Amino acid sequence: MTKKLKILILAGDGIGPEVTAEAVRALEAVAQAGGHLFRFEEKPIGGVAIRSHGSPLPDDTLKAALESDAVLLGAVGSNEFNALPPSQRPEAGLLRIRAELGGFANLRPSFAWPGLTGNSPLRSDVVEGADILFVRELLGGLYFGQPREWDKQANAAWNTMRYTRDEVIRVAKVAFELARKRRKKVTSVDKANVLEVSQLWRATVTELAPQYPDVTLEHQYVDAMAMHLMNAPRNFDVVLTENLFGDILSDEAGVITGSLGMLPSATLGGKVNLYEPVHGSAPDIAGKGIANPLGAILTAAMLLRYSAGLEDEAAAIEAAVKHIVADGARTADLARGDKSVKVLSTQEVGKRVLEALSSRMAAR
Ligand code: IPM
Ligand code: MN
Repeated sequence: MTKKLKILILAGDGIGPEVTAEAVRALEAVAQAGGHLFRFEEKPIGGVAIRSHGSPLPDDTLKAALESDAVLLGAVGSNEFNALPPSQRPEAGLLRIRAELGGFANLRPSFAWPGLTGNSPLRSDVVEGADILFVRELLGGLYFGQPREWDKQANAAWNTMRYTRDEVIRVAKVAFELARKRRKKVTSVDKANVLEVSQLWRATVTELAPQYPDVTLEHQYVDAMAMHLMNAPRNFDVVLTENLFGDILSDEAGVITGSLGMLPSATLGGKVNLYEPVHGSAPDIAGKGIANPLGAILTAAMLLRYSAGLEDEAAAIEAAVKHIVADGARTADLARGDKSVKVLSTQEVGKRVLEALSSRMAAR
């Protein structure tokens, strides 16, 4: 069946535009092959929006996002705004659009790609076969809790880690449901030995577990989890956690894939789903055409899966990425300074994906 989709592109800062362009090419290829009608619109967010509109999330961008079927974001963040308070930085635009779109379940898969395991600083036999899905709560915790302030007079500052039972229930349900379709294990991560908010988190997740008797639930403290992730990443299936812990652990999970540039994400549960790679704007390499586009391309695959219902096409993009990576396609981040590796540009890797994708779609 032909799918019609209005996709808002928010390329953002730094390497955002470069990697997003490759993701859009993959989406266009899928649309063309299947006769789908994807309409793309572009708007500014983050640092570029501060420069052009004086706001990290202009009204017009937000309006377009709310009117779209899916939002595909590149990255936000720019060093020139480092001295500003959090509320005026490019990141504030991202946090606001997350809140306005309302998606609370941020899915961040981390997969040990065959052919790339030698690329992880961890031993291959430790990472091989690792396949983790982080479910990061995205609208609560320290990111949004009130009160928050830097009181210059008192030389003190504070943020609030707050969760309600309902906020925990809705995201935990997503984790349990996803685990059902995978290896049926949920690891809930908290700091319940110190924090009341984590005690509520743990009690709530525990209370929900009997509704999913086919899923095994375990709890881990976040400090121990940081270690277990590196020691035995294969032990984990779905990892459920609050906002900041999920932010930290998902970057750590980049070590398993060999590069943060490989990680996609999808945020579900709100008015409009939001898709963004896990990596940031990487100002140090922006504009050089060397950024890894695979995180963004895999993010486009998640968009097809969760916003277009095009599961086969999503899987075809993932298979294409798997193929080119196993075949040795590498951007600089994946070569890790190894002189014997032929380093490809952002566009060359994007092109390889398209080639592998077209043969896959032709074969169907
Ligand atoms: C991420 C990023 C964001 C976050 C920043 C840019 C606000 O680090 O998506 O992981 O902390 O959520
Ligand atoms: Mn992060």
